Amino acid sequence: MVNHLEEPPVITIDGPSGSGKGTIARQVAERLGFLLLDSGALYRAVALASLNTRTSSDDAFAVAQIALTAPIDFDSNPDTGESCVLLGGQDVTLALRREEVGEQASKIATHVGVRDALLARQRRWRQPPGLVADGRDMGTVVFPEAELKVFLTASAEIRAKRRYKQLIEKGMSAKIESLLADIRKRDDRDYNRPVAPLKAAEDAVSVDSSLLSIDQVVTKVLDLAENRL
Ligand code: C5P
Repeated sequence: MVNHLEEPPVITIDGPSGSGKGTIARQVAERLGFLLLDSGALYRAVALASLNTRTSSDDAFAVAQIALTAPIDFDSNPDTGESCVLLGGQDVTLALRREEVGEQASKIATHVGVRDALLARQRRWRQPPGLVADGRDMGTVVFPEAELKVFLTASAEIRAKRRYKQLIEKGMSAKIESLLADIRKRDDRDYNRPVAPLKAAEDAVSVDSSLLSIDQVVTKVLDLAENRL
């Protein structure tokens, strides 16, 4: 049994792709001075390693081996001070954001061997003074005893629009219809996979961010945290 009194507190923020959980989790962690676990980045790093070695996303055994052994590290960029992800010592932070990497991540994330391999890596992030963890199963599987669980949603249309805006701002081309189709495909995989499907924990607080600003959601989560921690 976990001794809750001795464990640093955890806030989990789960939700579908593009719900804004990464941004919200980062800002909440900064405000509280907590560590931040972007679990999607772990899945993406395994996905990138599998693409680099031309390993099929269907090869459950081979991908689980990659998840067990891939040299994935989190660090901060010495020039910008921003957090970055290293794969084999190389900064792959930007490469992880590519659509094909997200797509591969959502496929390999359906394998139980991959999820099991990443479980211990994720739990090690629970360090003082506390942790904010974002993903799909943070509140249901990885940290079921978390002090505060938030389930962040937004309609698929709003999430596609946000993604479109982000890409255009970065000077990249994008089509809103294909972004929406991708989001729906990824939702379908995340919500309906047999292992650790995306769902709100029974004791999670659901927040619909469709009509809220980032600041409004951050304030809401901080208010909830103040009551719980
Ligand atoms: O959150 P992000 O889009 O970076 O995650 C990439 C993919 O990794 C998701 O589509 C999802 O399938 C998978 N994932 C997961 N469980 C997590 C985090 C991410 O299955 N805790």
